[in-house]
Amino acid sequence: MNRGKVPPQDADLTNSESLSYKIAETLAGIIRQKPNCALGLPTGRTPLHCYRILREWPEFLDWSQVRCFSLDEYFDVEPEQTFGHYLETHLYRHVNVSRSNVFTAVQYDNYDELIGRCGGLDYILLGIGRNGHIAFNEPGTPLDSWTHCAWLDESTRMANQEFFGSLENVPQKAVTMGIRTILSSRRLALLAVGESKRDVLNLAMTGPICSEVPASFLRIHEHLEVLADFDW
Ligand code: PGA
Repeated sequence: MNRGKVPPQDADLTNSESLSYKIAETLAGIIRQKPNCALGLPTGRTPLHCYRILREWPEFLDWSQVRCFSLDEYFDVEPEQTFGHYLETHLYRHVNVSRSNVFTAVQYDNYDELIGRCGGLDYILLGIGRNGHIAFNEPGTPLDSWTHCAWLDESTRMANQEFFGSLENVPQKAVTMGIRTILSSRRLALLAVGESKRDVLNLAMTGPICSEVPASFLRIHEHLEVLADFDW
């Protein structure tokens, strides 16, 4: 097994693939440096390419001690519609992560305490919703929020209806890491893919820091990396 180096980046990757490669490399570096690191992992369309890269590297990366925390999870959905299933399908089953090191908030009364007992999160990768949400912290979520149940915005439900066949099948409720949970991570990366995220990313990174645009709270963090496949 060659755990010294990840394969070089393909020369003809698209811009978003290239950013995903960069994140995958960062994750690989963190895992190498701290084999039992704690990661906060997103779902949705944004991280798909990053997970694709990571699962092509099983022989380069040892996940056996890595702790993986999903950022959020739906309530009241079929097992194959859960984010746990998504992460299992797109990442976990392809790498040597131990299932005893995989955590999701629906299974714990106090997710934040669990994260604390694991030594805190080392790195969270985030996408951004078109309404400025991060994880399922919808507009209006206060800065001082820890893991909590959240009602989903209509715009979030609409954005995710393709995964459920129709809007009425999209759940109304989820559990999500709060803004404080996210900000307590040692490092954060926000990845925005696609023109539809341009305006909201601009607003989050240059407008007022406020609960109407939850992603704006990320600017409080000292170690935030923002990656977008468009100029903003
Ligand atoms: P997406 O969702 O990656 O499917 O665009 C991002 C989000 O809602 O956080």
